[in-house]
Amino acid sequence: MAGVTDFVFRGICKELGADVMVTEFVSAEGILQADERTRKYTEFSDAQRPVGVQLFGADGRRMGEAARKIIDWKQPDFIDINFGCPVNKVVSRNGGSSLLKDCPVLASVAEGVVRAVSDQVPVTAKIRIGWDASSVNAVEVARILESCGVAAIAVHGRTRAQGYGGEADWSVIDAVARAVRVPVVGNGDIASATDVLRRRDETAVSGVMIGRAAMHSPWIFREARHALDARDEVPPIGLEERWELVLRHCRMAVEWRRYGDERHTLTAMRSRLMAYCKGFPGARELRQRLCHVISIAEIEDLAVLSMSRAETVCIGISG
Ligand SMILES: Cc1cc2nc3c(=O)[nH]c(=O)nc-3n(C[C@H](O)[C@H](O)[C@H](O)COP(=O)(O)O)c2cc1C
Repeated sequence: MAGVTDFVFRGICKELGADVMVTEFVSAEGILQADERTRKYTEFSDAQRPVGVQLFGADGRRMGEAARKIIDWKQPDFIDINFGCPVNKVVSRNGGSSLLKDCPVLASVAEGVVRAVSDQVPVTAKIRIGWDASSVNAVEVARILESCGVAAIAVHGRTRAQGYGGEADWSVIDAVARAVRVPVVGNGDIASATDVLRRRDETAVSGVMIGRAAMHSPWIFREARHALDARDEVPPIGLEERWELVLRHCRMAVEWRRYGDERHTLTAMRSRLMAYCKGFPGARELRQRLCHVISIAEIEDLAVLSMSRAETVCIGISG
């Protein structure tokens, strides 16, 4: 996820039980120009494997070259192609979800990447269910991708027109999973371990992909792992554990140095910090303060304040 699944956050998700992760998407041109930002986006450690690097672009030959280059450069475990991004900047350059409207170009991109690298690593793809409600074509797209040699397909159950609103349509995801032989990973609105079990039991998917829920609660991976292994439920995550993770995330990001010094790193992380606050007592006020933080010491103070207020609320209620 762009702006989210950087090196540090992927490390946290792995620790908490994520099985397979994908980098923030990068443009084929960014890789071919080897620019500094692209290097940052594609960084990962061996402990994070299996990791895929996700590429977007509309030119099969350039995408193939970029895939080869990233393999020489980083040896990822697989290459993932983005056919789902709804953002105008990407769509207007014929990348991401715009290719759902143009199956011949979509096929040429998939073929270009498969031809270039499938003797070295598997090539996977991420799609949406279609461009808009009147052109839902995920089954057709998935069959094309399978015939191009794509080894697995992740399906986000929304159209491009939906953006991130409305509900993911898991009936289309299920239809895709039944239509192709390659593994299909379902994606959209998984917010708990219960959701993971439900989608496993009610659809033909081979796995699920978790996006936004991990931004405020990366523990979802641990909970899902326990549920899938039929182990006891993980006790609910307390406020103290949440703050400990927020602070550890900040410290690791500052140490990583890819966003600059402490001030720049925390500025870059503000939207992440705000996401973590979902469900915290006094979340509204906290968010207002977090959007100005420039040091870890300030976040430490906010954590102490937030935990003492929560205690006061509890004492108040029990008294
Ligand atoms: C901030 C943000 C960035 C995202 N970046 C990417 C991306 O780079 N590549 C991708 O395939 N999907 C990206 N997505 C989409 C998610 O992977 C996922 O498909 C979508 O959020 C639906 O799943 P969810 O309901 O579990 O969040 C992004 C989503 C968000 C909210």
